[in-house]
Order: sequence, then C-alpha cells, then structure tokens
Amino acid sequence: MTTPRLAALRTRWLAAGLLLGACMPQAQAADTLPLIPLPAHYQAADGKDFTLKPSTRVAGSDEAARRVANQFVQLLAQNGGPTLAVADAGGRAQVRFHLDAAAATGAEGYALKVSNTGIDVSARDEAGLFYGAVTAAQLLTGNDAGRVAAASIADAPRFAWRGLMLDSARHFQSMDEIRKLLDAMAQHKLNTFHWHLTDDQGWRMEIKRYPKLTEVGSCRVPLGDAGRDPATGQPRTYCGYYTQEQIREIVAYAAQRHIQVIPEIDVPGHATAAIVAYPELGSIDQPLIIDNQWGVFPNLFNTEESTLQFLENVLLEVIDMFPARYVHIGGDEAVKDQWIASSRVQEHMRAIGASDEMAMQSHIVSRLERFLAQHDRRLIGWDEILEGPLPEEATVMSWRGTEGGLKAASEGHDVVMAPVTHMYMDYLQTGSPNEPPGRPTTTELRKVYDFEPVPTELAADKRAHILGLQATLFTEHTRNDAWLEHHLFPRLAAVAETGWSPPEQRGFDGFLQRLPRQLQRYRAMGIGYAQTPFQVDMQDQGNRAAGTAEITLATPLGYAIHYTLDGSEVSAASPGYSQPLQVALPARVNAAAFFDGQPLAAASRFEVTADSLLVREDTQLGLCPGDGKLLLRLEDDGPAEGQRAIFNVNIFNPCWLWQDADLGGVTGVKLRAGRIPYNFQLAHDEPNRKFAPAHSAHGELEILGDQCQGEPLVSLPLPAAPDADGFIELEAPLAPAKARGDLCIRFTGDTRPDMWTLDWVRLQTGN
Ligand code: ACM
Repeated sequence: MTTPRLAALRTRWLAAGLLLGACMPQAQAADTLPLIPLPAHYQAADGKDFTLKPSTRVAGSDEAARRVANQFVQLLAQNGGPTLAVADAGGRAQVRFHLDAAAATGAEGYALKVSNTGIDVSARDEAGLFYGAVTAAQLLTGNDAGRVAAASIADAPRFAWRGLMLDSARHFQSMDEIRKLLDAMAQHKLNTFHWHLTDDQGWRMEIKRYPKLTEVGSCRVPLGDAGRDPATGQPRTYCGYYTQEQIREIVAYAAQRHIQVIPEIDVPGHATAAIVAYPELGSIDQPLIIDNQWGVFPNLFNTEESTLQFLENVLLEVIDMFPARYVHIGGDEAVKDQWIASSRVQEHMRAIGASDEMAMQSHIVSRLERFLAQHDRRLIGWDEILEGPLPEEATVMSWRGTEGGLKAASEGHDVVMAPVTHMYMDYLQTGSPNEPPGRPTTTELRKVYDFEPVPTELAADKRAHILGLQATLFTEHTRNDAWLEHHLFPRLAAVAETGWSPPEQRGFDGFLQRLPRQLQRYRAMGIGYAQTPFQVDMQDQGNRAAGTAEITLATPLGYAIHYTLDGSEVSAASPGYSQPLQVALPARVNAAAFFDGQPLAAASRFEVTADSLLVREDTQLGLCPGDGKLLLRLEDDGPAEGQRAIFNVNIFNPCWLWQDADLGGVTGVKLRAGRIPYNFQLAHDEPNRKFAPAHSAHGELEILGDQCQGEPLVSLPLPAAPDADGFIELEAPLAPAKARGDLCIRFTGDTRPDMWTLDWVRLQTGN
C-alpha cells in the first residue's frame, strides 16, 4: 500500500465540497468531523460558528447535569483544550448540559446543538449526557482555533456492549494504569471493562475467605535472569493483586465514566494459581507450582462438591464487589486430560449421567449459572461453554471466530463478539521491527475497523442477540504499560467506531482522515499509542555487483510518504513517494508519512550500503516452508529491569528464511544467536512442534539452500550454553552454488527448557 491514496481522496473531497457546498451528503461531511466515533446523525445548520474562548463558561441544569458539566471541563482539558470554569448558579454559560426525562434520545443517546451562542447538550440519561460531553470536547479540540461549525447532532450507540478485556493475571497493571485506561475507554464511548483477574499464572483479586488465593496465588518466579536477584542469585518473584478496597475504587471510578466492570473467574481451566494456593481444588495428586509459562496448561479444578462450594463462595465476594449484571466464568481451553485420568471425576460423571467430560463442564456451568441467577446476576463465558448443554440465559463471548457467536445467537443466547481474528490486541498491528513483543499475525488497524459484529448469515429475528463487540488484551507478552498502550491505541478507536456508529456511516478512509486529531488527543492524554502504523518501513533489493539497490517504502495505513535521498530532513515539500526508488550505493533515505502537511511520526532513516545488503536481522527474515508455524515476537529473559532483546521466532520450528539472497562472491557466514527460555505449554498442539534432529550433544546451527531441503550448506555444533551476555557469535565458510537463492537458517534438536533464536546473519565476501 504505497500509493498516496489518502492524498488523492482528500483532493476529491475538496472538489466535491466546492461543487456541492451546503448540500454535501451527510457521510462526506461527517468524514471531515473531528469525531471518533462518528455520530449517528450530523446535520450542518445555517448560522455562524461557535468559537471557544478562555471566558467560555460551562453549566448544568440540575445536579446530575452539573456533574457532567464538571466532567466535560476535565475531558476538554485532558483532550488538550483549556480548563474552563463552571458558571455560578444562574450565571451565563456557553456550553450547557440538560437532563430531560422526556428527551427523544435513546439509552446512552444525546442531542447536541451548536450555534453562535454556544453548545447545548441534552439527554434522557446521565450516560447519554456524558457521551454528549465527550463529543463536545472532541468538537472543541477539532481544530487549533477552537471553532465549531453550527450543526445539530442526534446520537445513540449501535450496540449496548462496547467492551475492552484486560488480562491482569499474566502481567499485572497498577491502579494508575487501570484508571488511565478507563479514562481512555470513556473518551471512546466504550462502556464495558471485562477484567480477567484469574489465570494459571496468577490470582489477582483478594478473596477474604480464601486468603491463600492471593498470598500464594499472586506470585510466580519468572524464568531465567528475570527470576533471579543478580546480587544474591536468589529467586525473585513477580507478584501483584488488587485488594477488595482497590477493586471497589476501580468499580466506582469506572461507574463515574458509565463503564460497567465485569470480573472474570476462569473455570474449570486456567486455574493453576488457585490450585497451587489450595491443592485440594485440583484434579491430580501431584503438587503444582505457578509456572511462568504461557499457552494451555492441563490443570483443571476438580468436580468435588467442596470445590463447587469454594467457587460459589468466591462468587459471593465477587458479586459483592462488582455490581455489574454479568459475571464471566471463563470456560475456555479446558483440556480434559486430567478429568479423563481421574477416577473421582469419572465417578462424578457417572453419578450425574454426564456422557463425556464436556457434559461435566456444562454441569458446572449450569450450577454456577443457577447460583448467579439466584443472586440476580447473569453468567457469561467464552464460546467453549456452547460445546455442552447451556442454560438459555447464559451469554456467550465468541473468541475462536464468529461461528460460536453465530451458533449461540441462532440458538437464542445473547452474544458478545470478540473474535481472535480481529479483536485480539496482543496480535501485532504492523510488520515493523519496532513492534513490541506479541503475536505477529498482524491485526492491522483496517482489519480491526472492518470487523462487522453481526454475521450476515444470522437470521433477522436473532440479530438483537448480538449485544456488541469487545477488544481483548491478553498480556503474556505485555510486560509494561508502554507496550499495553501501544497494543491498544489507536486500534481501540476503531473498535469504538464499530461499536457506536451506524454501519452505513462507517468507512475506513474517512476514519483515517479523522485519526490524526485523535492522535493529538492521545498525546495530550499521555497515551503512548503505537507509532508503527504511522512510520515508514523500507525494503531493499540490492545488486552489489552493479552497486545499486531498489528501495521500496511503505507505511501501513497508506498516508502520503515523502522522502529525501541527500541526508536532509524530510518535509511535506520533499518529493512524494509513488514507486520503488532505484538508488546507487551507498544511499541515505529519510522518509515520513504526512497528513495535512504534518508528519504523523518521527522520520525513518535508512542507510543502504554494499555492506548493509549483506546483513539481515531476524525481523527482516521470513518463515521457512513447512507445516509447523507458531510465530511469536518474544523478548529475552533478562535483564530483570530495562530493555531486553526481542526476537521473531517460530516456536514450532525455529527456522528463519532469507528469501532471494544476493549470494554473488559470498565465501562465508557469520551469525549471532541468543538463548531464551522456552516457556510454553501447548497441550494438544504439542505434536506440531517440528525440530530437525540433532547430530551432536547440544544440537547444531544449520543453513540449508532452496526449500530448506537436502544436505545443509553449513552445520555448526552449538555449545552447551551461550556466553555470559546470553548470546554467541558463530562463523563458518559458505560456498553457495548460485548467485542468488534462499537460505534457511535453523537450530536442530529439542533444547528445552531453553531455545536458541537468531539475532542476525551476515554474509561474508572474503575481502
Ligand atoms: C482465550 O483466548 N483463551 C479466550
């Protein structure tokens, strides 16, 4: 996507605007509004603009409206606007909030009118008034002059469930970070915070009746260097949990922003931390530890009556902390091997007439559903709960795709769509080497934006069962707040628009027009949104013999790229990029993506030399052909604090492909390899790991030619351990038969509990 598509579109709109003037159809006008999500109805009005001044005052017509007026003052300031004063009672104000029980606005809806005397927002409920305040704050920060065109907006959300799930179990977030996220959610008109508080790797919620859940279950020892105190060599734990008081504080903070908080207690799988705290809850007799491993663990709660009572006791405290109607009971990825092997579980299955282990799980889900219903709550679970009989009132969160959601809605269940294909925010958003760790099947912004929660196949009379959609951030690879914010933003803006705006209003090109203003708000709010979608990436195809290279520039979202080749700073006046550049070596390329004459991110700088063409880092290499593929972007295990090396590695088959390498004159190869812990449990995916057999004690580094077939061109035995810094450098002669060709670079043998990973490879030319 290297053409300046947006620049072309903008020109077309301007032309359309000139021709059509005030009769411009609404969708086109709306696309130039500084609003995300787009409102349901926007109508330009005759009359003069309203302009924000430092003297602008804000007022609410009653107590609730005054609450919203005060929140508006905060929202505007957070969005980078001035801090306005609230008018004294009866005083004149230019931004006015009214609650009106008779207003025609629907639930969470509002009406907003801009005239030269000010902005009036009215709504039937306080949530709607708050969303009107969010819109008003966006309008007033929509241009640097604080000018807003006369208009009327009538707005209400498309879906009632506009969610974000945060996993606080794999990595733990501070109260401040959760509050920051809730602020950002509110500014995106998202209204449901699904809090994943329990998992194999940690139990993060205080339960007074079972103190060991957090005393024991909230700590683990990270693998490798991060889990050892460098001074003493002693284990160093990773711990964290929220007290009940803190949870209530978060629930209240969210409620002020019209966000419901839905807790998740994962049952019967993802339960290791709880079982380690109270071993009598487990399905096997061997003692367990809280492993710092990712993936699917085999450990399930057992099916004893005492365990079900434990779960109900936990739920009682949960219900007391979380006033939301729904409680999430997980239900995902519960591989049943331990239940199959347990004579006690098998006995229970016979006693209740369960035909298989899934029916046993359904029995537990139904029991918890009844318990929750008795307490006026509703059960929601991941789509695996559909695999057995499911009470009609249970709501299904469809994550393995949309098929589960389609089936559930067709059967009359309410559904929230959170498919891994579009809504998982730990999947990287670009192919850039600057992405943080995560799952590198890219889920780029457009893909998130294009997700449609209501399947076309769903019968019309079942469509109301689709409550909405939810973005999901599992945090195995998200160790810090910077990465968390990178993963979520700006993709959460796309989720927000899908959740709120009518489908006929939505369009990705218009969204990209409105996004730069949103980025400005993120900067004002201190949100570390991802830069990678706005940066320029480069690919070079060199011809060392000719001393030339072809340079391809791309920016993930298709904004206009400008570049220089003389080392000078790039600006909007620099040449625009439209096709690959033919350059003589050495070449210096500075490039950035621009919108409205402004760079969207810092310029990228590349130096392409005869020497750089001989080097490839792991992120520049592809995956070797073959069946087993589970590509992850993984970080090193140390140092405990600070930056760590990050590698792209296929954990099913550690093999990297350099496609169409220029091998002319090559006489040798040098590589740097690192070693990181292999910390995955794969359950039934285990047989998909395909390691080439080792021929010596610690395996080899091998390089193979085309198709990764035949005799290795290079085979170097590996040492038992890397050097003290965790890396080794290896060197070998290489005599390629062809002037160009593919190189496959792989490590042989099963080296668990660690794995080798490639950092970079350099071809040597012997001079
Ligand atoms: C899930 O991703 N296991 C819900």
